[in-house]
Amino acid sequence: MASDSSVPISHVRISPSALSADFSKLGEECEQIEKAGADRIHWDVMDGQFVPNLSMSADIIKSCRPWVTLPFEAHLMVREPDHLLKGFAEAGCDSILVHAEACVHLHRTLSAIRDLGSRAGVVLNPHTPIDVLTHVLDLIDTVLLMSVNPGFGGQSHIRSVVPKISDTRRLLDGADHPIDIEVDGGINASTIAASAAAGANIFVSGSGVFNHPDGYASAITELREIGNHARG
Ligand code: DX5
Ligand code: ZN
Repeated sequence: MASDSSVPISHVRISPSALSADFSKLGEECEQIEKAGADRIHWDVMDGQFVPNLSMSADIIKSCRPWVTLPFEAHLMVREPDHLLKGFAEAGCDSILVHAEACVHLHRTLSAIRDLGSRAGVVLNPHTPIDVLTHVLDLIDTVLLMSVNPGFGGQSHIRSVVPKISDTRRLLDGADHPIDIEVDGGINASTIAASAAAGANIFVSGSGVFNHPDGYASAITELREIGNHARG
């Protein structure tokens, strides 16, 4: 399975969200995103329960797997996702991210993702305190902080994520292995710098990449340059 985990944590990585792609030609869109220099592809999976919207399934993601070698990350906006994890691992998702708010037995769910051979991540909604991470640090590779309320692409960035990123970076410094901090929601050339300076190193961008007037490659390059500059 492809992985970009060899990229040092100090370097910014860009993860375009396929939610903003043209669904009638998803395979081609993935190919274009890879050619444009993305580091991975972010798949937003919505169940119509945890969030008020439906999106793609593991089968849809699997159908795109042969088109690219980029790592795939599945962001599961799904209540109690345990029964679905195997499907996403088999669809070629290098990384599986679950919401703390959606998992009653978060420790068990993270263990199950690791047992399937995928990297495990915890996602926190904008209002969720970071304390929930404290006792699962040994089981996680990524913390994904939402900077919109999940469910839709194209929303405005919630800036209170910035101090939350700094707090998370301090908490993760206590872990015995490197853990990525990823930010998701309203990331574009105007919003990425503050989150990068606060300590985030992976950035999801849907509308910021797919709707950029100068095309995917310009969008990705611009985000990476601004992000790396802000990280210093
Ligand atoms: C929101 C999703 C995000 C979103 C990002 O529920 O998790 O990944 O699609 O899209 P933009 O970058 O347009 O906010
Ligand atoms: Zn997402």
